Amino acid sequence: MAKIERKPLSEASRGRYHIETWGCQINVHDSEKLAGALESEGYSRAAGAEDADVVLLHTCSIREKAAEKVFGELGRLRPLKDRRGRFVLGVTGCVAQQEGAAIFERAPYVDLVVGTRATTSVPAIVARLRGGAVLEREARVDTDLRRDSLEFPPERIRRSGLGAAKAYVTIIEGCNHRCTYCIVPTTRGREICRDLDDVLREVVDLAGRGVVEIEFLGQTVNAYRDERGRTLADLLRSASRVESLRRIRFTTSHPAQMTSEIMDAMAEPGSKVCPYLHLPVQSGSSRVLRAMRRGYDRDLYLRKVADLRSRMPHVELGTDVIVGFPTESERDFEETLSLLDEVGYASCYSFAYSPRPGTAALGLDDPIPLAEKHERLARLQGRQKGIQERIHARWIGSTVEVLVEGASKRDASEWTGRTPEHRVVNFAGVSAPGRLESVRIVGSTAFSLRAEPLGVDA
Ligand code: 5AD
Ligand code: SF4
Repeated sequence: MAKIERKPLSEASRGRYHIETWGCQINVHDSEKLAGALESEGYSRAAGAEDADVVLLHTCSIREKAAEKVFGELGRLRPLKDRRGRFVLGVTGCVAQQEGAAIFERAPYVDLVVGTRATTSVPAIVARLRGGAVLEREARVDTDLRRDSLEFPPERIRRSGLGAAKAYVTIIEGCNHRCTYCIVPTTRGREICRDLDDVLREVVDLAGRGVVEIEFLGQTVNAYRDERGRTLADLLRSASRVESLRRIRFTTSHPAQMTSEIMDAMAEPGSKVCPYLHLPVQSGSSRVLRAMRRGYDRDLYLRKVADLRSRMPHVELGTDVIVGFPTESERDFEETLSLLDEVGYASCYSFAYSPRPGTAALGLDDPIPLAEKHERLARLQGRQKGIQERIHARWIGSTVEVLVEGASKRDASEWTGRTPEHRVVNFAGVSAPGRLESVRIVGSTAFSLRAEPLGVDA
């Protein structure tokens, strides 16, 4: 990989930036790349928007609510433009990709709009604006779907999360599916994959710098296949051989592409893949799955789960569910509830269906009232809460390994972290972010486990 030459610019000559990030891990990681792109051009991180010369809203458009929030936030930030000279306000990420120059129609005071794959355009446009250039709108928009974000030089990424212990690594970007509710194929483009050797070099480098957990990212991470035909299974095997690395995760997997080869690579001796899989099901009704164009039915999904569990008996599963997809009947919905019971997910993200521009589901009749969708969502969440309470209670009395993430949000005197099974554990005692601790589980709720350090009153 080409070495990047850092330009000898003083911080003062460039200014400070602030990025607000919405959405999934990929967005979080892309923000780390945006931050790196700006820092390698001499910008430094601001304490917050009020303190910054450049503010970027790194946006998500998966549901309408998330997309609308952006315009509220832009309105809130607008006064900063009058207060600070040559202040730059930009929109990046999925809403930028989806809306492009149309953002200027709704918010004419926005300075730049850069989509999901054009990361390196940001510092260039910002520099021209800060230098006093008056740019036409076309020169302030870049929604080209190229490889900028995926191929961003790893050494320039400004990694933020979890001290130095955990790192995200995007291996595939985009999505070739056409689920009828989903805007992702529009906002992220078609699948492109990184070369496995490049990915592995990054993993080795991160491990050498103390990273113990790697999470491989992609909208359809298990569809990964590089130019030489190497798959996610090959990558999991190679990464498992990186000596000081302790944990490997990958997200998000598409059920139809969850091959036995990948399952073997997860489960075989020597594998460092954590016993947790996020496998979005979306619905338990085969009729609805067909209308969603998911490419599997209930039986196939359950077979995949059984196949994985036969190899990894202690694997925990997580999922995503959409409630109230157009035409979803009460019976369809009950099939989703029964699927939750049957699989026994340790976590579940559930959403009311949200109509998205340009998607095929917009053309479907939708006689179900919104109130009913919300009522179903509440019922589903109640049912799932009971399932999680039972799953978590089983951990009481066992000793688990926690990768400490930081102070607990609820109680700053406690630490919080995750087990290999992705369970959240809170505990008091002496520790530090990034440490791997063995602790004993002494309590549980639907959402987390409570632990004591080993050695406390055995
Ligand atoms: N409405 C509601 N939820 C959606 N998701 C994706 N598109 C929509 C939509 N239009 C959910 C899916 C996906 C998760 C990231 O967001 O469950 O897995
Ligand atoms: Fe959207 Fe379906 Fe692609 Fe997932 S697989 S990103 S839900 S189109």
